[in-house]
Formats: sequence, structure tokens, C-alpha cells
Amino acid sequence: MGARRLDGKAVAQAIRGEVAQGVREMRQRTGAAPKLVAVLVGDDPASRVYVRNKVAACSEAGMRSEEARLPASVPQEDLLRTVRALGADAEVDGILVQLPLPPGIDRAAVLLAIDPAKDVDGLHPLNAGRLAMRLPAPVPCTPAGVVELLDRSGIPIAGKRAVIVGRSEIVGRPLALLLLQRDATVTVCHSKTQDLAAVTREADLLVAAIGRPAWLVAGHIRPGATVIDVGINRLDDAGRAASIFGPDSPRVREVRERGYTLVGDVHPLEAEERAAFLTPVPGGVGPLTIACLLRNTLRAARARREGEGGW
Ligand code: GUN
Repeated sequence: MGARRLDGKAVAQAIRGEVAQGVREMRQRTGAAPKLVAVLVGDDPASRVYVRNKVAACSEAGMRSEEARLPASVPQEDLLRTVRALGADAEVDGILVQLPLPPGIDRAAVLLAIDPAKDVDGLHPLNAGRLAMRLPAPVPCTPAGVVELLDRSGIPIAGKRAVIVGRSEIVGRPLALLLLQRDATVTVCHSKTQDLAAVTREADLLVAAIGRPAWLVAGHIRPGATVIDVGINRLDDAGRAASIFGPDSPRVREVRERGYTLVGDVHPLEAEERAAFLTPVPGGVGPLTIACLLRNTLRAARARREGEGGW
């Protein structure tokens, strides 16, 4: 059949353009540009790339941004103090603590230490609760990006059967709430779901957010479904890359030359045959996460500096 690709890059670019315009207008009104601080603990290579990309995207949109780096061995109290100090810093509009955190650090305690008004990831329990209660709140960036991608690609949500595979606080759970709010019939699957394929095959809208390379295959996908692949997995085994992408794929060369290639949670070739719409990896949901982070930062800055609701 040949699924149509949903162009996350193009949608993300459009949002980033809107944010850049919003930043220019805010600077004209107030003389200040929004400022994001990304806290990176440890040196996980993927997290370093994500944070670097987020900081670079801020400057491209005319915002100020900073990376606060702490060693993986940082005592939890020091990390909490850093996060609280950012909350108290009048110059800082948005705070993001890159996840995952190193073992031994209590993630819930760190998220609780973020000033909810600066919580541009929407992960503070107050904001998660506000989302659940349908009150205005910053929405986690990846789920917000998924909904934006659907909306701007003209894919309807209301009345559709949505199946989300993955129940994380950062993607699966908030996305379930957002889709429910948009009148989808939502099912959330997870590692204990029995006969996963029977459930996912019911989906008009199938979202994979489990962090397992090429895990969902043809048998999981209803012909004609829209498949949103949130996974970004590093594959460093050329043989495995050859078995997923085919032996002659440039992806196999990429593994040999760069050391890895990226693959989503959905088998790309099998989904291509079944789905009507499919997000590529890379270039699908990933760019939208950053675009929505920028938008959340602008909204947080407006709300804090200008008293606008905005969320
Ligand atoms: N790790 C992977 N995705 C994200 C994200 O959207 N926000 C944060 N803080 N950490 C992440």
C-alpha cells in the first residue's frame, strides 16, 4: 500500500516560526526574551544530544538558554538546591530536567522541586493533575507534539479508536488524557497487556511509546491505521539493522560509519505496508518535542512576565 509519511520536521518548523514571532513581539513589549535552563545530570550520550538540540533551538527562536550540567555523582540535595535556585531566579522562565536521571536519584523529588510556573515539561505533579482535571496547564512536549502533528496533518481524532502502547508519565499517560479530551476512545497498553496485537489491531490511531526497537510489526497494525512512532532507539548492531531495514539499506552503512542508526518502536518496512499514515524515525515526532518545548517556554514567560494565561 505505501503509507503516507507524516512530516514532523515541516510541522515543527511551522511551530518554531510561530514561536520566533511570539518571542519578537514579547521583546518589543517587554524588552526581554524568554529564558530556558536545561539541567543535565551525568553524561548519557543521547541526553547530551537532546539537550544540545534544545538549547540550540532556543537561540534559533530568539530565546535565551543555558545548560546546567551536573556530574552523575551529584548528591540529590545539591541537585534539588540547583533546581530550586532556578525557580527563584527571576531571569529564568523555563526549567527542564532532562530524563532519565542517574540511578540513586529520586526522580519524583526532583520533579516536585521544579517551580510549577516554570515547568515547561509539564511533569510537576501539580501540572499533571491540572491536565487530568482539564485545567489550563503546560502539557508534556512529546504528547503535545503528537496532537499538533495530527491536527496540522488533517487527521481527525474525535470518535476514533486510539491505542497507546506505553504508560510512561512523560508520554503514554498524558497523551491518553489529551486524546480523551479530544473525544477519542482511548486504550493504554503496557508490558502486562494480554494479546497485545489483538488490542492494537483495533486502533484507527496507534501510538508506540515503549522504547523497544522495531517492536510493533505488521500483525499489530490495522490496515489503513495512522501509526505514530514515538520511539527513538539507538541500534548499534549492523546485523540487526540489516534485518530491520534490509541488507542494502543506507542505515546499515550508517551503523558501520557512525556507530549507530536510529529506529523507532515500530518496524518501519512492515508498518509502511499496512498503515495509511506513518511518522518516520528520525524526522517524525522528535522535532515536534523540541518545537512544543519552545512554545511552552514562550507561554511560561508570557504568563510569568506579563500575567497572560496562555496555556
Ligand atoms: N527525556 C526524553 N524525552 C524527554 C523530555 O521530553 N523531557 C525531558 N525532561 N526528558 C526527556
